[in-house]
Amino acid sequence: MSVPMIRLSNARKVYRLRRRMFAPTEELVALNNLSLDVAEGQTLGLVGESGCGKSTAVSVMLGLLRPDAGDVEIAGKKIGEMAVADRVRLIQPVFQNPNASLNPVKRIRSLIAQPLRLHGGEDEKRNVSHMMDLVGLPTRLADAHPAELSGGQRQRAAIARALILNPKVLICDEPTSALDVSVQAQIINLLLSLKKELGLTMVFVSHDLGVVEHLADRVAVMYLGEKIEEATTDTLFEAAQHPYTLALLAASLLPDPDIGLPKQTLGNAAADPFAVNKGCLFAPRCPIVQESCQHVAQSLRPVNDSLVRCDKA
Ligand SMILES: Nc1ncnc2c1ncn2[C@@H]1O[C@H](COP(=O)(O)OP(=O)(O)O)[C@@H](O)[C@H]1O
Ligand SMILES: [Mg+2]
Repeated sequence: MSVPMIRLSNARKVYRLRRRMFAPTEELVALNNLSLDVAEGQTLGLVGESGCGKSTAVSVMLGLLRPDAGDVEIAGKKIGEMAVADRVRLIQPVFQNPNASLNPVKRIRSLIAQPLRLHGGEDEKRNVSHMMDLVGLPTRLADAHPAELSGGQRQRAAIARALILNPKVLICDEPTSALDVSVQAQIINLLLSLKKELGLTMVFVSHDLGVVEHLADRVAVMYLGEKIEEATTDTLFEAAQHPYTLALLAASLLPDPDIGLPKQTLGNAAADPFAVNKGCLFAPRCPIVQESCQHVAQSLRPVNDSLVRCDKA
């Protein structure tokens, strides 16, 4: 197999924190031995509920956060050994909240051109209007401030800025979660057409399986810092194996009434990131839990066309 465009191998990240003042420090394992590969031109959907470690994985993949163990390679090169100027030309992020990522006192033109100014590039003016066209922003907005744009337009501007250095990989961390439902689909369609037009490799992070269905070629599902299932999008939506994936599917709306709803639900308990658990991390909430699940750690194994971290699936 050829070298993946982006590869995260065996990443581990532990946060050390206190729950109260003067309380002893505790370890929170945000990523545990997480590996992800994305082939050139493919989109990987990374899903799981809030707190499962998606954004930590994103920061590690972007080279913004050093993992305690593990590596990131982009096009076969280790990200830790790359100069920042090279890294930003290969991989760029789009975050959830464009209000937070766009400086409100700057004009759209200057915000989109920022990476060119920081890292060098030619013909700022021509580049900015080309990028605005590409993401469907009217060029008359070039001199506007972010507050004059709608939420969707602001996210388009953030996407234009992410793409202005012509990166190979775009990492989108919940890019539509702060937007109105009606606008979400427009941004997803935009990302889909940009991926085709520019041959981008993408990682698309969402807590909502329904959102990644349209975009992703493969989906990896995370639970408390671990990958618990990975499959092609079609396989995952037709034949999910892990009880947690089934519960996530049940929680997202399925537009096709013939498919029917999976039965599993999660109950009321929330995932406890501090829980020290020798067995399966999902056991406390699992609808098909058995005695052995409490003390036998689960490893990823192939089941049909999926990789699944559950020996009961
Ligand atoms: N800087 C940090 N310091 C301490 N704990 C953190 C920090 N960032 C995230 N966490 C914790 O790590 C876990 C994973 O968080 P995160 O990666 O943001 O998950 P997600 O993006 O899936 O919601 C959560 O339990 C979160 O509270
Ligand atoms: Mg997050």
